[in-house]
Amino acid sequence: MIRSILLILFLSSFTCLTSQAETDVNIDFKNPGATINKNIYGQFMEHLGRGIYEGIWVGEDSTIPNTRGYRNDVTQALRELEVPLLRWPGGCFADEYHWRDGIGPRDKRPKGVNTNWGGVIEPNSFGTHEFLDFAEMMGAEVYVNGNLGTGTPAEMAQWLEYMTSDSDSTLANLRRANGRDKPWRIHYFAIGNESWGCGGSMTPEYYGNLYKHYTTFLKTPKDNTPILIASGGYDDKTEWTEYLAGEMEPFWSYRLEAISHHYYTLPTGDWSKKGAALGFPESEWLSTLYRTLRMEKFLIDHLAILDKHDPENEIGFYVDEWGTWYDVTEGDPGFLYQQNSLRDALVASLNLNLFHKYARRVHMSNIAQMVNVLQAMILTDKEKMVLTPTYHVFRMHTPFQDATYLPIKLKNNPKYGNKDMRIPKISASAAKDKDGKIWLTFANTDPNNAETLNLGKQFKRIAGEVLTADKMDAHNNFDEPETVKPVAFSAKSKNGELVFELPAKSVIVVEAFGAEN
Ligand code: AHR
Repeated sequence: MIRSILLILFLSSFTCLTSQAETDVNIDFKNPGATINKNIYGQFMEHLGRGIYEGIWVGEDSTIPNTRGYRNDVTQALRELEVPLLRWPGGCFADEYHWRDGIGPRDKRPKGVNTNWGGVIEPNSFGTHEFLDFAEMMGAEVYVNGNLGTGTPAEMAQWLEYMTSDSDSTLANLRRANGRDKPWRIHYFAIGNESWGCGGSMTPEYYGNLYKHYTTFLKTPKDNTPILIASGGYDDKTEWTEYLAGEMEPFWSYRLEAISHHYYTLPTGDWSKKGAALGFPESEWLSTLYRTLRMEKFLIDHLAILDKHDPENEIGFYVDEWGTWYDVTEGDPGFLYQQNSLRDALVASLNLNLFHKYARRVHMSNIAQMVNVLQAMILTDKEKMVLTPTYHVFRMHTPFQDATYLPIKLKNNPKYGNKDMRIPKISASAAKDKDGKIWLTFANTDPNNAETLNLGKQFKRIAGEVLTADKMDAHNNFDEPETVKPVAFSAKSKNGELVFELPAKSVIVVEAFGAEN
């Protein structure tokens, strides 16, 4: 008896909090928004755990099939994502990275200690040439994170000269001697990382002075000048954005072009006990999605500050680290390896929808991190590889890269949650790509109930893919790599209305046909 009462109480503690029959979806074709910069789909690869070594780079002599040292299975899978941008070498690692350690013959490169991530030996066999050649192979733009914390203005300026100069300078010739004749194009360059923490425990004021100091000496050819990124704040901390944007006018003179921001989603919100990647209760499904949606408030607050100081919209707001961070259960705790479940797919979808919505200033985001670290696209175990639910969301979303955002309104969108936390049941985005095709994505945050969506007369048919599974923590592993994978999804209008069921705990991406606008 007590058991059944408890069960009833438990079941009723998570609920869909309104009971309209369906959610109406309306797309505003007449007032298109900003371009969804493809770099919102950027990836982050740090010298951390097995993110680069094993995850991407195995070396030419490895038994794992590779092309010039880059593993074939991972590079092939990443190609499918059309990765637009790669951020390297860190993270915290960046502020202890000395670029000269990573050039020249690999067997002669110095070995260092990766003090941030497990204290392991850093062999430096993956350096500037290996990164930039990899990006070129992937057809991705590059974001190099400079060392402000333990470097010098000269070291930073010389790194840029080494990479970008086409002159007869000693550094340009050193690059040529190391096997690269033409300069690489460097699209973005950051002045430090998390300068409030692992990057030097600085105040915004101190950092602001260093930013002006270092950037004064960053000189590159006119046609190869990266967008410079200032290290900003985290979570709800707005003081970095406020100070940097308020202090550096005129922006062009101080070269303030973008401010970065970091936000990680912890199921519990507590860094000492973050929550498990798998086997979590529904309360942590909800709390994870609830906490990840805090991103919207952070974007609203930071964009309001930028709008005040920069009404011309010159400064970008780049969320260059985001994603889930769980308790480590496997391997070296310093390696931040975690499994990735259907819940992560929802986290990815909710955040991408927010980045689309605020695309007028959010021109870049980098999920942390690409392979084997935190909310990864891909996991490897020596020669084995598996694609995560997050990978599938990114692959499904490729049509949104560089498409035009179309405002979307959801009427009667119920809430999912309990008395403490409530979130919108449906999250959505719409966009028009360069070929005029309309793309829609919807996520259902409720793990128990489908939702009926009504697109009315706007379209005659939708077709694409759905990602869902039977369990909240459904995931792929090396023995069962296809437990969570997208399958075809379509719907047609009947009696002049396009009505369809969005399954519980799912993400769909579809092309919409027959638009009247
Ligand atoms: O992504 C892992 C770490 O998280 C990064 O190195 C750092 O910038 C952040 O604290």
